[in-house]
Amino acid sequence: MKRRDFLKGVAATGVLGATGFPGIWTKSGNAWASNNEIPVGVLFSLTGPVAVVESTLQNACLMAIEEINAEGGIHGRMLKPVIEDPASDPATFADRIRRQVLRDNCVSVFGAYTSASRQAVLPVVEQHDNLFWYPTLYEGRECSRNVMYGGAVPNQQQQDFVPWLKENFGGRFYLIGNNYVYPREENNVCKMILDDIGGEAVHEEYVPMGHSDFGSVINRIRDMKPDVIFCTLVGDSDVAFQRQMHAAGFDPETMPVASLTRSEIEVKAMGGAAAAGHFSSAPYFMGHESAANHRFVEAYLNRFGQDEVTHFVNEAAYFQVYQFKAAVEQLAPSDITPLNIRDAAVGLRMLAPQGEIEIDPNLHTYLWPKIARWQADGQAEVVQQSARRMAPDPYWAYEDQMCTAEGLVRT
Ligand code: ACM
Repeated sequence: MKRRDFLKGVAATGVLGATGFPGIWTKSGNAWASNNEIPVGVLFSLTGPVAVVESTLQNACLMAIEEINAEGGIHGRMLKPVIEDPASDPATFADRIRRQVLRDNCVSVFGAYTSASRQAVLPVVEQHDNLFWYPTLYEGRECSRNVMYGGAVPNQQQQDFVPWLKENFGGRFYLIGNNYVYPREENNVCKMILDDIGGEAVHEEYVPMGHSDFGSVINRIRDMKPDVIFCTLVGDSDVAFQRQMHAAGFDPETMPVASLTRSEIEVKAMGGAAAAGHFSSAPYFMGHESAANHRFVEAYLNRFGQDEVTHFVNEAAYFQVYQFKAAVEQLAPSDITPLNIRDAAVGLRMLAPQGEIEIDPNLHTYLWPKIARWQADGQAEVVQQSARRMAPDPYWAYEDQMCTAEGLVRT
């Protein structure tokens, strides 16, 4: 079983160079790169319960676009961002991306944080053979040929994290998340791993999106005394939960909150003192020591303010624009279409702030898993780091299914 194979090395499935899918033309001529401009959609929420995160994804995406344009664009053509605010609402995501694709002729769209919003745009990008660049960690079990997945899938966040938590704190996990597909699916994977390693989920609980009163949850946690609180709350809910846990006096040394979603941006919103001592699993933290990261952090703070933060989702929102650029650069201007860009992107390796990354033929990204403990200054101290970039396996927990360059394969 795939998930049982914890000690297995990283599968070397990535290859340099395009795989040679036939390009599919869906427009006559080249409407996608006219007037010396290449229109790209930017679709991140600036309002609603996940704006706290998504507004910073827009920042990073626009910063990369500005940098590329300042260097002369791509083939001398400037990237033209077409910005919409989908307001943290999946139906609005679908509506706005339709405009970007059909009215504004965007050759790709960068956007979304929640899996609910990604799932809302999928039918639109698939129907119109466009390309959606999604920077966010997600639950896997998806294999669209119209999405470039830049965030971690469960094997890149949970494979090391769950056994590490059990070893260090114990195997009785309390699972808490918002009520939508992402937390439910991540928790299914967590329960499978716990089952394999002799742990258990003592309670599993979901609250509505944007929920902010955790009094009864905290009472239950106090009664049940789990070893670990496994947390997939997002945005404002994560901020409210951690503040209230901190105010209730829980000790992270004996009952840590272990999050797959919490980054420097949520920690900034909740305050470092509330997060201190708790853990996150992610492929990037702001303090990562590399020249590429120093450049990224410095540019971001200069552009948006010295008290801003970078984090694992806006790092991906940033590097995905550069992956787009590298792919478009391989195409003659007359060949710039969404699916030609996708095909040129497969196998691309690039130095991102977190280290060298690579796009797998399954359109997901090789990343560098890390486990970190939050500090009172709002920064993370990495306590364990993968020695190699880890291959993305969106169906890692499901042994009879895998995502390949041909799409979903069932064995
Ligand atoms: C998420 O909904 N993929 C965080």
